Amino acid sequence: MSRLVVVSNRLPLGDNPSGGLVVALQDALRSSGGLWVGFAGEPVESPEDELAWHPGAAFQRASFDLTQEDYEAYYLGYSNSVLWPLCHGRVDLMRILPGHVEGYRRVNERIAKLLVPHLRPDDRIWVQDYHLFALAFELRKLGVECPIGHFLHIPFPGPADCAALPNPGELFDWLSHYDLLGFQAGRDLSNFTESARQLAEIEPLHDHRLLLQGRVLRADVYPIGIDTAAFIEEARTAPDEDRMRSLTGAQMMIGVDRLDYSKGIPHRFRAFQLLMENNSDLHEKISFLQIAPPTREAVEAYQDIREETEHLAGRINGQFATVNWTPIRFIHRPIPRNVLAGLYRQARIGLVTPLADGMNLVAKEYVAAQDVSDPGVLILSRFAGAAETMGDALIINPHDPWELAEAIARAMRMTANERRRRHSALLRDVVEHDVGWWSATYLDALAAA
Ligand code: ADP
Ligand code: F6P
Repeated sequence: MSRLVVVSNRLPLGDNPSGGLVVALQDALRSSGGLWVGFAGEPVESPEDELAWHPGAAFQRASFDLTQEDYEAYYLGYSNSVLWPLCHGRVDLMRILPGHVEGYRRVNERIAKLLVPHLRPDDRIWVQDYHLFALAFELRKLGVECPIGHFLHIPFPGPADCAALPNPGELFDWLSHYDLLGFQAGRDLSNFTESARQLAEIEPLHDHRLLLQGRVLRADVYPIGIDTAAFIEEARTAPDEDRMRSLTGAQMMIGVDRLDYSKGIPHRFRAFQLLMENNSDLHEKISFLQIAPPTREAVEAYQDIREETEHLAGRINGQFATVNWTPIRFIHRPIPRNVLAGLYRQARIGLVTPLADGMNLVAKEYVAAQDVSDPGVLILSRFAGAAETMGDALIINPHDPWELAEAIARAMRMTANERRRRHSALLRDVVEHDVGWWSATYLDALAAA
């Protein structure tokens, strides 16, 4: 079997790296003597001209360094101040600076140069996410001919948004050097095809093949999953003492998201406020736990959201709290996975309401964690990629606080029979389409491409 080489922005480090993507790729990496290359995590003053090797995992791991300047231009700049807002429908938050796109090109080129001496002619290369759109282009320039696939974990923008890039054609030039483009959802594949039609040159061929900028490649949808069996076990055996206790016996509603403007956290707080204003019978019956660790705080667009959410939570608590009951608890830090799994299991409602999201793994984790005999209800934004396969959730429009408040009230009053029926359909999908299924399906398609 040819060797699998995975390249991502973040390298999974630690002696026993966990996380869905690592688990998914571990078997393929281990059985093919594979290699994972990524960023070490902290910028350095004088970067090495070599990859650094990290022993300890079942596969080889190697990292590249970045200077502060490259980190600012490539990661904080072009990746997270241009591509991230663009792909999440927030072109108003884009901060376009010429130095950033140059830094992005430079870092992609540098990764290619560091990688090439370690490649073998029969390798398969799998590039992850929007930080590395230009990597195949740079590898091809250096003469690499082996199959290279890309998987985009976030949404692909439609033509109106794509047109906001300074040079949209360049994005499609970069992408045309891959053999396989993988997207999370049908909507992303349609956006990609339509944007390429309007802003570049594309001709659909048969069997998911197309001609992009004169090169033949394949593009298809591979919805990512979680390590379902492991997460079910994690939730079943979660420590009891970490579960949330409520003095009033209120049902818990949980939200778990990085504190990102794409996740719709303030919108969901406003909907909760509306719910409280119009349903006094639910006072002391529902407690909302929002866990939202900080993320990308050095990026300007993330700087106000903590204050906004804390302010909203404070206002709602001030308006409705009683001696025994705090309506919203807002935790601004990461928490251990087994504790998280136990909290999901205890929550009567899982609230997943992004304004835009590639897939949203929290939706799948919430379903996997439920007790099948008395499951909770998933409320899911129709703008999450997950909504394409999780139609048995209560699907809502996160921009409409009335609709969201009504869905929460409906979930609170839903019969056990309806909860079980919806949950069993959702669980079937999360079990069948786990992360192992995702990586195997993608890698088969890359082999065929
Ligand atoms: P994104 O990739 O945009 O962050 P996803 O929902 O797809 O969104 O994935 C988020 C992952 O991060 C999930 O696996 C979730 O469990 C984990 N996560 C989010 N918040 C926390 C937290 N506070 N503590 C621990 N894990 C978290
Ligand atoms: O899911 C999209 C994504 O950008 C992943 O690539 C990344 O690991 C995650 O969100 C967290 O973002 P960051 O790596 O910027 O902290």
